[in-house]
Amino acid sequence: MNLSDKVAIVTGSATGIGKGIARRFASEGATVVGFDIQIEKAQETAAEIVAAGGKAVAFRVDVMDYALVKATTAQVIEQFGQVDILVNNAGAYPQKEFKDQEPKDWEWVLNLNINGTFNCIHAVVNHMIGRKSGRIINMASVAAHVGIKRMAHYSAAKGAIIAFTKALAMELGPSNITVNSVSPGAILVNNATTNYEGKGIYLPRPGGYPEDIAAMVSFLASDEAAYITGTDHLVDGGRVLGPRGS
Ligand SMILES: NC(=O)c1ccc[n+]([C@@H]2O[C@H](COP(=O)([O-])OP(=O)(O)OC[C@H]3O[C@@H](n4cnc5c(N)ncnc54)[C@H](O)[C@@H]3O)[C@@H](O)[C@H]2O)c1
Repeated sequence: MNLSDKVAIVTGSATGIGKGIARRFASEGATVVGFDIQIEKAQETAAEIVAAGGKAVAFRVDVMDYALVKATTAQVIEQFGQVDILVNNAGAYPQKEFKDQEPKDWEWVLNLNINGTFNCIHAVVNHMIGRKSGRIINMASVAAHVGIKRMAHYSAAKGAIIAFTKALAMELGPSNITVNSVSPGAILVNNATTNYEGKGIYLPRPGGYPEDIAAMVSFLASDEAAYITGTDHLVDGGRVLGPRGS
């Protein structure tokens, strides 16, 4: 198994893509530590993993709360002895036309998607530098590549994630820590059945699934991806290629 003996923090593990990543990591042998505000659902994710023979726990953590992220990460390091992998997946993508956005809408989306990522990395970075080893994977989006209408705040936040990832990869590379981002296209989460066909998906399927993203994240977290850093990885069924032609 690729991730045997690794300890991984996955934010937003209660639902959707984060749940898919948690399950995949556990199936690869990792101990999964979920951080989520929906603690009951995050505990369900952990319980499902344990019932399947894996290792997982969950903590109630709001990634926007710097002090709580720091304290809980310190507790995780104390309890498990190490953190090898951090996946900054917690995020949200509310839709509102820019002209109707209030400063509080803008600030919340940027705070969750960018500051939440900063907080979690800052909490673990000295530990990883000390161990001269680490994998950091940040969730970006196709919104960072092509922009999405009614999601100007979200597009800005995810664009920032990609630039932040690159700069951090340069600083942390000498400490043998890789930093990458993944940009999902339309992913069917939480029992969504929307048919994305005709909306820029080129493959004969309704859209992507959490497992599609988990496969990429799991590879980036593994030893096999040791020479990959500072790069964004699209998993989007061709979404950014442009309009479907005849
Ligand atoms: N689903 C898609 O089509 C899609 C496409 C591109 C990018 N993404 C990105 O993938 C990531 C996961 O999205 P998803 O579709 O699985 O969404 P989701 O809503 O199913 O999952 C998000 C998770 O993050 C948690 N969360 C929200 N705010 C939090 C906070 N402050 N602290 C801790 N946890 C918090 C939620 O409780 C939830 O478990 C996000 O970063 C999102 O922007 C999703």
